[in-house]
Amino acid sequence: MQKSITENGKTGFHDKQILESWQKNVSPWVDAIQHKQIESRVLVTDKAIIETVISLSGNNAPDNNASGKSVLDIGCGEGWLTRALITSGLSVTGIDAVQGLVDKAKALGEGDFHVLEYEQFSDRTIPQQYDIAVCNFSLIGNESVEHLFSVLPSILNKGGTFIIQTLNPYISCGDAPYVDGWREGSWNGFSHDFCDPAPWYFRTIASWLQLFINNGFVLKAFKEPIDSSTGKPASLILVGKVVSSPVDG
Ligand SMILES: C[S@@+](CC[C@H](N)C(=O)[O-])C[C@H]1O[C@@H](n2cnc3c(N)ncnc32)[C@H](O)[C@@H]1O
Repeated sequence: MQKSITENGKTGFHDKQILESWQKNVSPWVDAIQHKQIESRVLVTDKAIIETVISLSGNNAPDNNASGKSVLDIGCGEGWLTRALITSGLSVTGIDAVQGLVDKAKALGEGDFHVLEYEQFSDRTIPQQYDIAVCNFSLIGNESVEHLFSVLPSILNKGGTFIIQTLNPYISCGDAPYVDGWREGSWNGFSHDFCDPAPWYFRTIASWLQLFINNGFVLKAFKEPIDSSTGKPASLILVGKVVSSPVDG
């Protein structure tokens, strides 16, 4: 995922291509997760996201609500994180746009799973409010991600938390200029069963932070989990807390 395609700011890439790709890659993705084929996940990032969610689950309950343990796993894929958090005692709902992945998640165990695209998220399509929303490597697009950030304050409880884990921009930038923009996708390092890689929207660290700030969050944590085999960050984790919502004006 190194190459940047920019020609007068136009790339031909768009958010819809992301879901078109995921629809075609359900089976290899399920295999990759079930057979632990993604080394950075096994070594670093799975543990990092679980620990981050668990560390926040006990102390961000809304006033007069002792539970503080409802979690929305956004872009849940085949549901491994939902299951891991349920095992840790949290109440978790998983949402993904891809029916095949949601069907697999339902078949693999406990959990409340639904099919929904980020573009359709609103306080009407998601009537329940959650204490924590988490996106584990599931923020891939441009407008879809901006929309998600804009509606999350109305989906989270007052004082709720939004946690993202994503590619570390310093590492994933490669040789391309360090500027926001669409990049060509690749399944390099994955099995040959994957096809038609989706483009992805590169954001600098500053742009990720700005997304939180622009949508009513304050930053509570910023982590760069290190892969000890390379000495480099395996990911970027950002944690924002809602401080204003649309109803606050
Ligand atoms: C790299 S996978 C990560 C899955 C899961 N979070 C995990 O950690 O294994 C990205 C997921 O994001 C979902 N996704 C991407 N864009 C989406 C959108 N606009 N609406 C809903 N789901 C989306 C994909 O369907 C896919 O399941």
